[in-house]
Amino acid sequence: MKKKYRYLTEAAQSVMQNAYSPFSKFRVGAAILTNDGKIITGCNIENSSFSLTICAERVAIFKAISEGVTKFKAIAVVSDAKDFTPPCGACRQVLVDLAGNIDIVLINSHNQMKIKKLNDLIPLAFTKKKLMKGK
Ligand code: THU
Repeated sequence: MKKKYRYLTEAAQSVMQNAYSPFSKFRVGAAILTNDGKIITGCNIENSSFSLTICAERVAIFKAISEGVTKFKAIAVVSDAKDFTPPCGACRQVLVDLAGNIDIVLINSHNQMKIKKLNDLIPLAFTKKKLMKGK
């Protein structure tokens, strides 16, 4: 595996063990890298009322924001699947709004890595800059 983002990847793989996914049986782990080198993790957490489920990526970034961190470099996302697990549309919106054009580090169950820029996953995103226009 490429050396870049190795610790971030390991953090995401480790937190994936905490996934609470009795309904989908699909485990996801995410680890976000802050500008000052801190790593904050999250896993998916499902609910009997299915729509209340939250993805690993949003758990990670909400934890970070709630700890006062606002500048980010990258987020790693891992799952049990052979295919990569790119963030869902809701997570892309939350991430671009709160973190900007960060690296999205995708890792599959074979430990293969692919790195994307968030702007390429959510082009023409609606962000607070647009919301504030004209105010
Ligand atoms: N899930 C994530 O945690 N992140 C993603 O990027 C895709 C989906 C979770 C939500 C749900 O618990 C399970 O995976 C199946 O959709």
